[in-house]
Amino acid sequence: MTSAIDSYYEKALSVVKEAGKVIKNEQYNKTKAVDRKSCDIDLVTETDKAIEDLLIKTLSKEYPDHKFIGEESVADGKKVELTEAPTWIIDPIDGTLNFVHEFPHSCISLALFINKEPSIGIIYNPSLEQLFTAQKGKGAFYNGNKIEVSKQCDLKKALIMYELGTSRDHSKIDNVKKNFETLIGIVHGMRSTGSAALNMAMVALGGADAYFEFGTHIWDIAAGELIVTEAGGVIMDPSGGTIDRFSRRMLVASSKSLGDQLSANLTQFYPEPVD
Ligand code: IPD
Repeated sequence: MTSAIDSYYEKALSVVKEAGKVIKNEQYNKTKAVDRKSCDIDLVTETDKAIEDLLIKTLSKEYPDHKFIGEESVADGKKVELTEAPTWIIDPIDGTLNFVHEFPHSCISLALFINKEPSIGIIYNPSLEQLFTAQKGKGAFYNGNKIEVSKQCDLKKALIMYELGTSRDHSKIDNVKKNFETLIGIVHGMRSTGSAALNMAMVALGGADAYFEFGTHIWDIAAGELIVTEAGGVIMDPSGGTIDRFSRRMLVASSKSLGDQLSANLTQFYPEPVD
C-alpha cells in the first residue's frame, strides 16, 4: 500500500528531475546573471531562484498546508521556521560557485521534515546524473542501487571531505587552514567537491569516510543527513555532541568511532547563527 510519505517522495522526485533539466539547460556556455550575497564568493544566480520557485510552487500547490525553508527565500528576508508541520527544506543549487564556473559538481538538495525529523532526502546532480535518495527506515540509494557507508573506524586510514566555505572572514579562513594542516598529517587524504550536499553523499556512498564543516546552513545538510544515516552513518556536532541543525556546524562519518576521532582532532569554530 502506498503511504503518504511514498506519494510525497514520488512528487518530490518528479519536481527535482524537472528542476534538474533547468540546471542542465543553463549550466554550460550560458551567460549567467550572478549576484553576490554575504560576500564575493557567496553567490546566487537567476537559476537558483528559478529552481527554488519551481519547487515551492509545485509542492505548495500539491500540499497547501506544508511549510518551506528555502535558501534563496531566506536570503530575501523570509524567517527560518521549523515546526512539527511537514516542512520542505530546499537548497535549489548547492554548489552555486561550481555552477557559475561550469564545474560539474552542483546539485539540488531537497528534504522533507515531519515533526522536526527528516522523512525524505533527495540530492540530484543533473550534470553527472548522480541521484541520491532516502526515505526514513527504507535505506539510502544511488541511482536506484542501495548504498552503505564504508564503516571505516580508523582516522589514519580515512578519506576526509572538507570545504573552504563561502566566507572570507579571517578567523574562519584561519580555522580551515589549521584543521587542514592538522588532518593532512594524520589521514589518508582530504577531498572537496564544492558542495556540502555532494560531500555528504560521498560519505553515504562509502567513497569518503567523513566530512565536517563550520558554516553550513540547514538547507545544505537537510537531505544529506537522512541519506547518510540511512546508509548506516552518523551525524553529529563537530565537538562530538548531538547535531544542532541550526548551529551551522556539522560532521558526518561512516562510524561513531571515526566521528569521535575526527572531532578530537578538530579546532572548533562557532559561526554566527544567521538562520
Ligand atoms: C555552499 C556549498 C559549499 C559549502 C558552503 C555552502 P551554496 O552552498 O555547499 O560547498 O562550503 O558551506 O553554503 O551556497 O552553494 O548553496
